[in-house]
Amino acid sequence: MVNEDFLIEVDQLTKTFGRKKAVDCISFQIRKGEVVGFLGPNGAGKSTTMRILCGLLTGTSGRMSVCGIPMAQYSHEVKKYIGYMPENNPLPLDLRVYEYLRFRGKLKGLEGARLKKRVDLVLELCDLHRSAEQRIIGNLSKGYRQRVGIAEALVAEPKLVVMDEPTIGLDPHQVIIIRDLIEKLRGEVTFFISSHVLSEIENSCDRALILNHGRIVAEGTLTELRENFAPEISFEVKAKGDPREISAQIQKLDSNIEKTDEGAVDKAGFRWFSFRSAKAKDIMERTAALLVRNSRTSLGEIRETHPDLEEIFIRATQRSWEIETPLGAIEEDAGDESGKGQMKPKAKSKRARSKKKRNVRRKTS
Ligand SMILES: Nc1ncnc2c1ncn2[C@@H]1O[C@H](COP(=O)(O)OP(=O)(O)OP(=O)(O)O)[C@@H](O)[C@H]1O
Ligand SMILES: [Mg+2]
Repeated sequence: MVNEDFLIEVDQLTKTFGRKKAVDCISFQIRKGEVVGFLGPNGAGKSTTMRILCGLLTGTSGRMSVCGIPMAQYSHEVKKYIGYMPENNPLPLDLRVYEYLRFRGKLKGLEGARLKKRVDLVLELCDLHRSAEQRIIGNLSKGYRQRVGIAEALVAEPKLVVMDEPTIGLDPHQVIIIRDLIEKLRGEVTFFISSHVLSEIENSCDRALILNHGRIVAEGTLTELRENFAPEISFEVKAKGDPREISAQIQKLDSNIEKTDEGAVDKAGFRWFSFRSAKAKDIMERTAALLVRNSRTSLGEIRETHPDLEEIFIRATQRSWEIETPLGAIEEDAGDESGKGQMKPKAKSKRARSKKKRNVRRKTS
């Protein structure tokens, strides 16, 4: 039965290339109007999944539908609902922006006044109106070219826009333009966006799917992902006094508390300490009270810290590795004819460790 709420329904989709399983029996749904991020290490199968969703590749097995219409039987019909911006979007370098968008709009069935209206609208939405629309695509900078790709994806009033790494190689200004564009269209258009820029996914997306080795290893809102992959409480304390005494006293409050880092002393004699606790109740209040009560210590600041999407990504992909492969068992990526490096357990552990250090001073709300 068709569920009216879902724009995309994917059921046990698998794609193999020879002996390589690029997508391994994945199932997920995306609701109308959602902005969903699609994450995964290199070679995880994101682009393959997106290409199947857009009708450019066929799955080896499984089913999928867009707006309740099955892709297998009606791919021509389904494609009308989708705007796709591929990875490394190939654009005709000798056409002008305006010409190209008109040409693509016509190919997608728009004509006359409707075509003009839509092309003008997407030019404005993507901030390509004014001088850029008359420029030759080959002479545009990367940021403009990416925006031409997005304009093309939007031109035929799609219900679903699939963007494969839309912010790759862009400077922060261009990234903000793309983020604003998603904001403008939020609710009207459903977005499925892959990216390695996790802060972007964190900013723009309602939900994220994390893929590893062709399988979905995590799915949910940031809060849900945190609950699943990082349920512990982490907090930072800025305090003055003997660091050994401070650490020991705080750790005495509850056997679950673990010290994760300790910073250098500042000019005023304070230093930051970071702690993590699996389930110590009211731990921040009790820590603050302890440091205030003790005449040999002073409390400067105390704050809770939340793991960001990058930390969750590392944990989710690592957890799936640990389940499927004993940690450390694989040094080299096995059997990927493209040569794309999939994350290796050892590399990830190291990265997770350095990330933890970098994160120590990061304040999150
Ligand atoms: N046409 C193809 N023929 C053979 N193997 C392929 C083909 N397309 C993809 N693959 C393989 O399928 C796997 C998934 O590739 P895919 O491009 O979907 O990953 P990805 O998650 O998009 O990676 P990236 O983050 O690097 O873009 C890889 O091992 C890749 O080499
Ligand atoms: Mg890709």
